[in-house]
Amino acid sequence: MIYPIVAFGDPVLRKCAAPIQANYPDLKQLIEDMFETMYGASGIGLAAPQIGLPIRLFIVDATPFEDDEDLSQEDRDVLKTFKRVFINAQIIEESGDEWSFNEGCLSIPEIREDVFRKEHVTLQYLDESFTPHSETFSGIAARIIQHEYDHIDGVLFTDKLSSLKKRMIKGKLTQISKGLIRGDYRMKYPLAKKKR
Ligand code: NI
Repeated sequence: MIYPIVAFGDPVLRKCAAPIQANYPDLKQLIEDMFETMYGASGIGLAAPQIGLPIRLFIVDATPFEDDEDLSQEDRDVLKTFKRVFINAQIIEESGDEWSFNEGCLSIPEIREDVFRKEHVTLQYLDESFTPHSETFSGIAARIIQHEYDHIDGVLFTDKLSSLKKRMIKGKLTQISKGLIRGDYRMKYPLAKKKR
């Protein structure tokens, strides 16, 4: 089942999401549906709050980057198997130099901006079978995780921009909330006028 993706302005995107237990109802189906929803929107990451669920769950599948000529061979080698489920993730450490990358978000269509983040991230998480992992990621893989991890803490990439950039995109963000700027996939706009 494809869920509508919640647009900027919905309060669920601002919640600090709660951890879940292994007996969370229909978890396997939910994870499948999140992948289907993400692929339907051509995304590489999706966090549960983006489908309206304030729980600490996000998924990534960056395997399409395998053929991206703009990336280093090292990044491509990592990304070709980079499909994961992260449950109750906790960042233990971020290290390395900050570097910028042009980010976008399925909840914020039509806006892409350069965001600075640290190069490496170490986190503890449970996979879809609730097996614990402690793992360090670098480069684009770290970037995708940091972006999705922010979602489960109620943070969006637009929060990380300079105050000038924030002012410049403010109007566009309001238009997204109203559904005047739309994604080319199913979305739920918090300030859309109801049709009569
Ligand atoms: Ni996002």
